[in-house]
Amino acid sequence: MATTCTYTFALCLSLAFLILGSSASSTEADILLSFKDSIQDPKNSLSSWSNSSNAHYCNWTGITCSTSPSLTSLNVSNNLIWGPIPDQISQFQSLRVLDFSKNHIEGRIPESIGSLVKLQVLNLGSNLLSGSVPAVFVNFTELVVLDLSQNLYLMSGVPSDIGRLGKLEQLLLQSSGFYGQIPDSFVGLQSLTILDLSQNNLSGVIPQTLGSSFKNLVSFDVSQNKLLGSFPNDICSAPGLKNLGLHTNFFNGSIPNSISECSNLERFQVQNNEFSGDFPGGLWSLSKIKLIRAENNRFSGAIPDSMSMAAQLEQVQIDNNSFTGKIPPGLGLVKSLYRFSASLNGLYGELPPKFL
Ligand SMILES: *[C@@H]1O[C@H](CO)[C@@H](O)[C@H](O)[C@H]1NC(C)=O
Ligand SMILES: *[C@@H]1O[C@H](CO)[C@@H](O)[C@H](O)[C@H]1NC(C)=O
Ligand SMILES: *[C@@H]1O[C@H](CO)[C@@H](O)[C@H](O)[C@H]1NC(C)=O
Ligand SMILES: *[C@@H]1O[C@H](CO)[C@@H](O)[C@H](O)[C@H]1NC(C)=O
Ligand SMILES: *[C@@H]1O[C@H](CO)[C@@H](O)[C@H](O)[C@H]1NC(C)=O
Ligand SMILES: *[C@@H]1O[C@H](CO)[C@@H](O)[C@H](O)[C@H]1NC(C)=O
Ligand SMILES: *[C@@H]1O[C@H](CO)[C@@H](O)[C@H](O)[C@H]1NC(C)=O
Repeated sequence: MATTCTYTFALCLSLAFLILGSSASSTEADILLSFKDSIQDPKNSLSSWSNSSNAHYCNWTGITCSTSPSLTSLNVSNNLIWGPIPDQISQFQSLRVLDFSKNHIEGRIPESIGSLVKLQVLNLGSNLLSGSVPAVFVNFTELVVLDLSQNLYLMSGVPSDIGRLGKLEQLLLQSSGFYGQIPDSFVGLQSLTILDLSQNNLSGVIPQTLGSSFKNLVSFDVSQNKLLGSFPNDICSAPGLKNLGLHTNFFNGSIPNSISECSNLERFQVQNNEFSGDFPGGLWSLSKIKLIRAENNRFSGAIPDSMSMAAQLEQVQIDNNSFTGKIPPGLGLVKSLYRFSASLNGLYGELPPKFL
């Protein structure tokens, strides 16, 4: 062999690549087959995953490879697949997309997942994962989407190494079993556009400088937790913010008038908290605002007549606060408004005819 190689080095090299290539691909196919063996697939969605079929494994359902025989995307979303995430997942070193969402994937997230250093999308949302989420995120420097939402059996703190993911744009942890504090490290999530931590068991205060860290934020939702402390004051550092959800927590203190700097805000929901002080007047005249919900707090102040400038406003619920003054005539000028409920306040005057 050695002698042959000195004569035809190029041939040897390509032979070596062939051997390497075929062994890499048979390994990947083997891992996929043993994964298939370890799960239940009641819809038989993975029927093409078979070593007796003629199709190359790169052509199996849910698999994408790059030009070399290496797997770049494994997407078996929405198939009622039932079973654990195999430990061998770590061997798919080229994987950029791992989407197991909307199945019945159970058990713990294996720590071995942490060596998938090229991952851009990790979607394990809407499954039956349990236990706590391991600290596997430090290697995920390319991660853009992390979705662990709707895993009711998770019981986990929020791993603070998530805060190192400088390219992360979407962090979706809603409706799972996360408890404890939002880590201070989250200020490192400089590229974030969507943060959804709603419907968990989070407690404590929101990190001080969080609001000012997220310049590209479009949606910020921490509603339905047990968070306390004050309103995230610098949240309008993200000029593109459209959706702000803080409702059903224990937030207190007042909401600063600087909220009117969020000129793209469409949905503002702070109901069911312990907020007090004058309701920020500028909010009423934001040109894109559609929804204002602030019921069940202790807000005071009047509703300014300038609310007629909120030309997109559709729904207002401010019941059970301490608003005072006259219902402004401007209310009647907002043609898009279909719901205005303000019971249990100190308001007086007439509602425009269409609300009677
Ligand atoms: C196909 O895979 C099974 C296990 O999944 C194995 O027992 C069998 O030897 C394989 N056949 C071939 C031809 O590789
Ligand atoms: C996948 O299938 C297509 C068409 O069926 C074929 O052209 C292609 O060569 C196959 N790819 C591999 C890697 O086998
Ligand atoms: C995975 O496949 C589903 C459809 O089967 C698709 O909706 C989803 O966007 C894919 N996931 C990714 C990350 O491309
Ligand atoms: C990060 O990747 C390296 C190399 O693949 C691996 O040895 C290490 O265990 C990984 N770290 C974590 C936290 O998974
Ligand atoms: C939330 O956390 C508290 C303790 O802090 C615990 O008693 C409660 O069971 C948790 N609730 C849920 C839904 O996990
Ligand atoms: C908010 O609640 C905390 C306790 O959670 C309390 O110490 C603080 O004084 C309250 N602030 C206001 C303005 O009510
Ligand atoms: C009004 O809001 C307070 C909290 O500010 C709450 O305790 C009370 O139950 C609410 N009343 C009604 C009728 O919803």
